[in-house]
Amino acid sequence: MSGRQDHWQHVYATKTDEQVSWFEASPETSMALLEAAGPVAGAVVIDVGGGASRLVDALLEARAAHVSVLDLSSAALERSKARLGDQSRVAWIATDICDWTPDRRYDLWHDRAAFHFLVDPADRARYVTVLHAALRPGGRAVIGTFALDGPEKCSGLPVARHDAYTLAAALGEGFELIAQQTHEHTTPWGSVQKFQFATFERR
Ligand SMILES: C[S@@+](CC[C@H](N)C(=O)[O-])C[C@H]1O[C@@H](n2cnc3c(N)ncnc32)[C@H](O)[C@@H]1O
Repeated sequence: MSGRQDHWQHVYATKTDEQVSWFEASPETSMALLEAAGPVAGAVVIDVGGGASRLVDALLEARAAHVSVLDLSSAALERSKARLGDQSRVAWIATDICDWTPDRRYDLWHDRAAFHFLVDPADRARYVTVLHAALRPGGRAVIGTFALDGPEKCSGLPVARHDAYTLAAALGEGFELIAQQTHEHTTPWGSVQKFQFATFERR
């Protein structure tokens, strides 16, 4: 098991939903951005670093055709599986995004607070290669990270903070920035974290 997989397995094995800073009972910002990028109804969607997020529940409710939830931690995916029960429209993928080979094309890609853990430029480049392979031409990616004035760490790990332009530079010429939005997330214990979201279209 890699060091980072070990970290995340431990987090989900030892903390409840409400004990992690990134928890949100209803992923409203992500859903609004995905609907603006979509539509979600009928779309093939992936949530990268989805953890135990309730976004998959909201996507199914919004009639996505198929949802993949990819995360380094199988413990996180097990939690969502237990919550949702058998779902023929969901694929659970336990892997490191940097090592993954997609086997289908997606209309929509979502990542809230996973990309920012890639502090090594080589990992960011691998992520972009995977994103390019997974997203159909014209497909859209909604990526949310800590903003430039957001926290320097998440879950005790260092993060790379971004604005829309550093995200666009990381994704490179294969993607066009089409929308951006800042967001203030309130943690379960009431502190505020500044996020940057950006939506890209695969050329
Ligand atoms: C801060 S949590 C956010 C979880 C979820 N997106 C949400 O908004 O509730 C970051 C998630 O990214 C996952 N993660 C971190 N690095 C990853 C990687 N290299 N590949 C896949 N997942 C990763 C972690 O296991 C964790 O579930």
